[in-house]
Amino acid sequence: MTILVTGGAGFIGSNFVLDWIEAIGEPVINLDKLTYAGNLENLAALAGDGRHVFVRGDIQDDDMVDKLLREHQPRAIIHFAAESHVDRSIHGPAEFIQTNINGTFTLLEAARRHWSALGDEAKRRFRFLHVSTDEVYGSLGPREPAFAETHPYQPNSPYSASKAASDHLVRAYFHTYGLPTLTTNCSNNYGPYQFPEKLVPLVIANALAGKGLPIYGDGMNVRDWLYVGDHCAAIRTVLARGAVGETYNIGGCNEKPNMEVVKTICRLLDEMHPDSPVTPHDKLITYVKDRPGHDRRYAIDAAKIGRELAWRPAQTFETGICSTVRWYLDHQDWVRHVQTGTYREWIAEHYGG
Ligand code: NAD
Ligand code: TYD
Repeated sequence: MTILVTGGAGFIGSNFVLDWIEAIGEPVINLDKLTYAGNLENLAALAGDGRHVFVRGDIQDDDMVDKLLREHQPRAIIHFAAESHVDRSIHGPAEFIQTNINGTFTLLEAARRHWSALGDEAKRRFRFLHVSTDEVYGSLGPREPAFAETHPYQPNSPYSASKAASDHLVRAYFHTYGLPTLTTNCSNNYGPYQFPEKLVPLVIANALAGKGLPIYGDGMNVRDWLYVGDHCAAIRTVLARGAVGETYNIGGCNEKPNMEVVKTICRLLDEMHPDSPVTPHDKLITYVKDRPGHDRRYAIDAAKIGRELAWRPAQTFETGICSTVRWYLDHQDWVRHVQTGTYREWIAEHYGG
């Protein structure tokens, strides 16, 4: 038994691979292009472990994906690979269309070819699990109910539009070809190994460096925060027990305005890092120009996955953010490497280009 993970050197993918090897112990083929967001340092704990096979490649390379499926015969594909940052999608949407839409299409086609050729039992067991986001549902007003799986798709950024397109393709491959797909739509994650361009790690890294903590707009945009380990456990649950063709929303019931998240991080840094030259850290908060088309509020109704698959998050926001701040304090080298390019130099040396 083997699974193929795409994007397994990124933030959620690497947490998933580590979690999977520990919890399930089944081999993982990890296909990742190693863009700026992919980092093999995240997987250093698996060095020399034969259960993790890393392959550098692009999900748009259909010959390579065909070859991997033929060689390793995975029982499932867990598809994380994507361009994932809204701000980058505003400045340069092309990569998002290529990886998130064309890449998912290429992968679905390869999965369909592979799956069609399987024997009856392997065909019945095979799964294509597509990891997606709550951002496909658009923005909520302050009193609107949280997103259920039936909420209409109303993506507002090039990122969310490209993820919405990929979700629709996955849906079509189930309905048209019978490919046994599962889709998960999760809220904002935070935790170890998140690239410091996203709000939580950016605020921690900037605060430690004594730099401004940029707050877009009025700081009252709301996100529903989930600890990454809980997301990984939810994906394992959906893979094991989800009904094919279904989608499952995943969230932590932790709606917070950005300003509250930033102030919580500052307070934790004041407590955990009292020798910092910049305490109190919240004096670094700086209001900056808002993101164009900035979605006001996301909130996930995770009742379906709770009711049907008995998944619930293990962490509250308070416990998750506390261990996340601790992790970044203990792993300042990791942040420095991804910021300074030491890691990129290592990639160039070992993988070329
Ligand atoms: P990330 O940007 O940290 O990692 C993405 C990974 O995909 C990187 O390792 C990158 O090298 C790889 N990749 C990019 N393009 C590729 C290509 N063409 N071929 C192969 N590999 C490629 O992203 P993340 O935050 O870990 O998100 C993973 C998935 O989860 C994405 O699909 C994202 O849409 C979804 N998601 C993220 C969040 C969140 O809060 N971060 C929430 C819900 C859903
Ligand atoms: P982000 O981590 O980029 O996730 P997403 O846009 O996918 O929700 O941003 C989370 C929230 O924080 C979002 O409302 C934008 C806001 N934000 C800031 O206020 N300042 C920042 O520097 C960043 C990166 C985000």
